[in-house]
Amino acid sequence: MGISVAVIPAAGRGTRFLPFTKAVPKELLPVGSTPAIQCIVDECVDAGIDEIVVVTSRTKPSLGAYLTPSPDLVEELRAAGHAAEALAVEHLLRDVHVTTVYQDSPRGLGHAVACARQQVDGRPFAVLLPDEIMGDSSLLRSMVAVHQRLGGGVVGLKAVPADQVHRYGIIEPSGEVDGAGVVAVRSMVEKPRGNAPSNLAIIGRYVLSADIFDVIEHLPPGAQGEIQLTDAMRVQAEHGPFHGVLSDVTRHDTGTPLGWFQAVVDTILDDPEIGPRAAAWMRHRLDAGS
Ligand code: G1P
Repeated sequence: MGISVAVIPAAGRGTRFLPFTKAVPKELLPVGSTPAIQCIVDECVDAGIDEIVVVTSRTKPSLGAYLTPSPDLVEELRAAGHAAEALAVEHLLRDVHVTTVYQDSPRGLGHAVACARQQVDGRPFAVLLPDEIMGDSSLLRSMVAVHQRLGGGVVGLKAVPADQVHRYGIIEPSGEVDGAGVVAVRSMVEKPRGNAPSNLAIIGRYVLSADIFDVIEHLPPGAQGEIQLTDAMRVQAEHGPFHGVLSDVTRHDTGTPLGWFQAVVDTILDDPEIGPRAAAWMRHRLDAGS
């Protein structure tokens, strides 16, 4: 069985993007003309997922509005002769059913994921952190394939420099990484202080079995006083199959202004229409500044 449902935790305040996030959720930050959340939705659809549960906050009504189909807008565009634009808007959410649930208090990633328990309804599911924008869906697709082949939980991994490990969930491998980038996970720790078990960081993509909800329910607060998904996954890894998939996919952390800027630059430079002119302008701008 493949994975048909994904959970996107998106209830955060977006403090690093204030004052912008006073009124607009950071998940709607445009990467080119596409809001970050749409990149995540597209990645899900590309990996065969057709149901998405977005965990959001009542303070972010425009996120829910974006994720609702807009037949009136489509009609309006069509009537005004904008057929291509109408089709583009119509296609945004065509292949996926999106529901929203609320996380009323920010109690950590594990708690956010648990808010989607009812909608997940016992199925294995994916989790995608919307701050991480991937260049394509290859990592998620590989993770789904590993789950199908080996069962249990799967996390997406990237090797990070030693001075960065304290920013991530870090796994303890129980063997070598194989030729396909797959590694068995013995344990993991959230934001290690001091000795880290490896430099393999969890990069915001997960495939999990639904029994994680029972584990989360009994979990004490962990790092930063929050209910950590990493702590729940560690319990699972101790009791059953758990794997990581190491990937070199392009990845941007759009949760920080620099990461967001890099994602925008990549997207604009790859755009056949404005990319060449943007590149020329950037060269000019950098020459003038140096
Ligand atoms: C979260 C997870 C962490 C993971 C990281 C990836 O941390 O808790 O395990 O490595 O995302 O970006 P956050 O960045 O929300 O503090």
